[in-house]
Amino acid sequence: MALESRPENMKRIDSLELAQAYIDERLAMLREQIGDKKVLLALSGGVDSSVVAAMLIRAVGRQLTCVHVNHGLLRKGEPEQVIRVFREEMDANLIYVDAADRFLDKLAGVTDPERKRKIIGKEFIDVFVEEARKLDGISFLGQGTIWPDILESEAGIKAHHNAGGLPEDLRFELVEPVRILFKDEVRMVGRALGLPESMVERQPFPGPGLGVRCPGAITRDRLEAVRESDAILREEFAAAGLAGKVWQYFTVVPDFKSTGIRDGRRTFEWFVIIRAVNTVDAMSATVEEIPFALMQRLVQRITSEVRGVNRVLYDFTPKPCATIEYE
Ligand code: XMP
Repeated sequence: MALESRPENMKRIDSLELAQAYIDERLAMLREQIGDKKVLLALSGGVDSSVVAAMLIRAVGRQLTCVHVNHGLLRKGEPEQVIRVFREEMDANLIYVDAADRFLDKLAGVTDPERKRKIIGKEFIDVFVEEARKLDGISFLGQGTIWPDILESEAGIKAHHNAGGLPEDLRFELVEPVRILFKDEVRMVGRALGLPESMVERQPFPGPGLGVRCPGAITRDRLEAVRESDAILREEFAAAGLAGKVWQYFTVVPDFKSTGIRDGRRTFEWFVIIRAVNTVDAMSATVEEIPFALMQRLVQRITSEVRGVNRVLYDFTPKPCATIEYE
């Protein structure tokens, strides 16, 4: 199962009926593979791990243990949604670890983008390993590998995000129920499994999360400005019907202040940069033409609702020459 390949003649799963047929087939395979043994899954709340979780819950119920690590760099409302959907609605065996302080303490004063990414990646593994070691009798590790991950790792583009970082005693047999699917198929399967549209249609979100949108050394107050402004942007894009149309949109708050004026007094505060781009493969990207009235509304809301911000800018730069993220 771990080395399963997508059959060349496999029909694209582009309807709920085909998704349901895939689910039925996989549930039988999963039950056969897992039997009465236990499975562990790192559940980030992203599309792939959420669909794997929903599938495994259907297949083996509480034989699955999900671990959701909140590294403090998630978007507003995300950990709450994971808990609501999986623990409350699907009755999953979910361990929620609030590790925000731990991550933010390790990241304090670190300015180099690659070091930030490394710290976040290593700390994530450490927290997951600590939780895994508290559990008894795990035999399998669920993983949200999808077909493009395999293609990209074969082509040498991307180091596959597999269990490689885990210590020897935790290298369980892999369970990869969406391994042969393309992203649009994973979304369709998620929909057929009853996951909320906001989870299934989620825009891409980098593993290091808001950490790369708080350039330079992360501080809690500036991180909060990123999180709050991102929530406003998502709300306004959804209200304007842009949420499903624009490929990726987010805010960035650089460590830089400028003067402003509020209630007749001088302020010296950060600015929020809005980024909204469209792309097919993230290798190049064009900038979304946001209606001016929406832009004005965003400026009004962000400058009045987000603490420590007195200015809003729009990034008009395509990729190349800029990347989508800021670091
Ligand atoms: P860039 O900034 O390179 O981003 O134009 C291209 C796409 O990749 C996402 N991205 C990441 N995803 N870990 C991830 O899982 C990362 O470290 C990372 N950096 C960028 C980015 O959000 C965009 O969709």
